[in-house]
Parts: sequence; structure tokens; C-alpha cells
Amino acid sequence: PRVAVLMGGLSAEREVSLVSGRECAKALRAAGYEVVEVDCGPDLPMRLSEVKPDVCFNALHGRWGEDGCVQGLLEWLRIPYTHSGVLASALAMDKARAKEAFAAAGLPVVESVLASRDDVAAGHVLKPPYVVKPNNEGSSVGVYIVREGANAPRLAAEMPAVVMVETYAPGRELTTTVMGDRALAVTDIITDGWYDYDAKYKPGGSRHECPAKLPKEIEAACLDFALRAHRALGCRGVSRTDFRWDEARGLAGLILLETNTQPGMTPTSLAPEQAALRGISFPEFCDWMVRDASC
Ligand code: DAL
Ligand code: MG
Repeated sequence: PRVAVLMGGLSAEREVSLVSGRECAKALRAAGYEVVEVDCGPDLPMRLSEVKPDVCFNALHGRWGEDGCVQGLLEWLRIPYTHSGVLASALAMDKARAKEAFAAAGLPVVESVLASRDDVAAGHVLKPPYVVKPNNEGSSVGVYIVREGANAPRLAAEMPAVVMVETYAPGRELTTTVMGDRALAVTDIITDGWYDYDAKYKPGGSRHECPAKLPKEIEAACLDFALRAHRALGCRGVSRTDFRWDEARGLAGLILLETNTQPGMTPTSLAPEQAALRGISFPEFCDWMVRDASC
């Protein structure tokens, strides 16, 4: 079968997606597929009608690629594609609405509100420390941690008009990948500062302990919550759910931050590492996604 690997795109995570896409293309060739790499721009519908793929492997991240837009196009063209469908993608990408779905499923989330930049500047939203992020980006692009005594008006000047403001959840950074109906493992992400864009993608920017050394109860909760989050949003294929865990508070200190429907597939990414831990090589992981594709 011919697989088009969709990569690049128009979002702030374009560069990350190009790396994910090239890795996946290489792996799919190794798995025996005919692969066409498609750097996605406004001419994508035309490119797809030229390439005529049997399946699209979605290696896009961020807006238009992870939020239901490209998924809608592929539904329209009747081309099976990997990862989540239209609704789950749109829900997961809208951090505020995803939180509502998680809370309704009984999953632990932090208090958060959508607020205007002006309210953030005026210090009206939450007491510091809090986190400000765009409602619909990934890879920590545009994320600010506002601490006691920070210059909120100066920070707010750099923000989009409407942002998501959430209570800062302290603690260790944990993450779990779901593959179909199975939660793979828990990784503990160890960084010097916080897990920002550079720590995510620079070699040596962070250290991954996989499997994480955790109390059994916390490990089991991460696996359970990740699977329930995947189902609460209606995800398909592979997703990755991120947590914070405040050790001092035990199980009550475990907070679900978000679910990523297009988890990174770069050489420093977490999902492929967890698959490897379960004996699934990178080509096998990508091959599984192609076989799982639908529309
Ligand atoms: N948004 C990045 C690609 C991730 O979640 O892995
Ligand atoms: Mg994300």
C-alpha cells in the first residue's frame, strides 16, 4: 500500500512535525510500505489527489493538523488516516473543553479559566503561581509560569488576546502513552528547569526514566487515567496523556494536564520510547498505526 506521511504544516510546531514525519517515513519504508512525504501547505487537497495514497499517516502537530481540520479533509476525501478522528482531535486541542470532558469522567484536573490578556495584566484571574497558555497549541509554545511578584502586565503584552489560565500544579512530570486499548508505561521526565520547548527537543535537554520509579499505586493510576482520558475524548490509535505528581500529597497530588492526540515521534520523543519498552520497535509502532487507520 502507498502511505502519504503528512508533515510540516502551518502551526507553531511545524519544525517538530518535520522531524516526526521524516522519522516515521523512514520507519514505514523499513516496514515495507511505499511512502510519499507530503509537506503540508494550502495546496494539500491537490497534492493528495495527485499522490492518491491508500492511507495517510498523520505526523502533523498543532493547529490544523491536530485539531480536527486535516482530519475533516481526509474524511471528505475518504482516505483512511492514523490517530484520532475529527471530534476527538478538536476536543483534545481545545484545552478548556478537554478539561470539562476529563472532569465529567471523574479525572483529576486543575482549576482553570479562559481569560482575556487584559484581565491577566490586571492580576484579576488567579493568585500566583499560575500558568498561562494558548488554548490550542502544543510543545509548550507560548506557555508562561507566573510566580509571586512577576510583572504580569509586561508578560501579558506578549500573549494572545484570550488565554487559558490554570493553577500551577507542582511536582514531577509524568506521561503515559495509550496504544489502542492498552496503556504502555509511565515515563518520569527529569529536567533542570521546566520541560519547555528546548528541554523537549534538544538532545540532552531532559532525561527520561522509563519505566518511572514510582509507588505501584501512582503507576497504576497513571495507566488507568491515561486510558480513561483517551476514551473520554473518543481518541483512536495512539495518544499520550501528561501528568504532574506532587509526591508530598500521594495519590491526591496526581493531576492530569492534557491528552495529546498527535504525540511527538522525534528521536527525543516519549511515545516511541514507551513502545520500545514493551518490545515494539519504531517501525512496528508506525506499522501498527497504519493498520489501525480508518475514516
Ligand atoms: N505536542 C508535542 C508534539 C507532543 O505532545 O509530543
Ligand atoms: Mg501538548
